[in-house]
Parts: sequence; structure tokens; C-alpha cells
Amino acid sequence: MQLNVGIITVSDRASKGLYDDLGGPALQEASVGYGWNVLESVLVPDEIQDIQRAIRSLISKGCSLVLTTGGTGVALRDVTPEAVREIAIRELPGFGEQMRMESLKITPNAILSRNLAAVVDHLPGKPRGAVECLGFVVQAIPHCVEVLQEVPTSC
Ligand code: MTE
Repeated sequence: MQLNVGIITVSDRASKGLYDDLGGPALQEASVGYGWNVLESVLVPDEIQDIQRAIRSLISKGCSLVLTTGGTGVALRDVTPEAVREIAIRELPGFGEQMRMESLKITPNAILSRNLAAVVDHLPGKPRGAVECLGFVVQAIPHCVEVLQEVPTSC
């Protein structure tokens, strides 16, 4: 199955050009490594509406998987989970649980991340952390997308 992926970096500072976006390119490289087709990468500030607009736009362009990096922490400006939840039709708690469980083996700060995955519409900070977290759940992604797209599967 060809998996079309969209990538969103959520960061006030990177979107103002105050520092380079390292997370988006890192997720792009990891996605290509998994054999996925990255349709578009975007950079938005930590604003609920900008995040939601970017997710919807990527879905409308044909992305069946949208990966985000940034804005899951405890800072008052961190609103990525809230933005995703508001437009989600279904949350998939296992993804966030797995990311935190595995990430805690790497850093105690992983407890600060409110990582989550959700189905939006009818589809489903730190560059190293984003790529690590993707790696912890990657095996479940193709099957998840197939089920949501009603592709016949063997499991
Ligand atoms: N998870 C992994 N696997 N690797 C990391 O380096 N960094 C942590 C945590 N989870 C990290 C991680 C840190 S320092 C923070 S503050 C939170 O994720 C939130 O990061 P975010 O605001 O970029 O989403």
C-alpha cells in the first residue's frame, strides 16, 4: 500500500525564523526510510487554528497519515494535543501510551509529553524525540490506515 504522509512542525520560534526547523526534516527522512511518500511538510506556530487548518489541508491533498512534531509538552503555548483532539472523531490511546512507555527508557522527560494519535475526519520540539516516537508505533500504522480506508486485510 502506498502511504501518503503529511508532516507538520508546530513551533512559534521556528515559524518566526528564529531557529531552523529540524523536526520536520527529521520526520521526513524517517518517513522516506519507511518507504512512505511525503506529499508535503509545513511549519505552523503554536496556535490551535493554524494546526487544525494544516491538518485539514494535508488531508484534503490526499495524506492518509499526518505526523506532527512539537507542542506536546507542558509549556502554556503547547496546544498540539488540544488542536488534534478537537477535530478528531476517535482517539487511539495505545499510540501515546507506547510512545511514552518506550521514550521513558530514553529520557525521564518523556513523562512531560502528551503524545497522542487520533483519527481525523474519515482518515486517520525535538527532532530526535519525534523520530524515536514514530519508530515505537510504526508497525501498527499501515494496518491502521488500511482498516480506516476499508482496504481488505489479512489480520
Ligand atoms: N521522547 C523521546 N523519545 N525523546 C525525547 O528526546 N523529549 C521529551 C519528551 N519526549 C523526548 C521525548 C521532552 S524534553 C519534552 S519537553 C516532551 O517530549 C515534549 O516535547 P514537545 O513539546 O516537542 O512535543
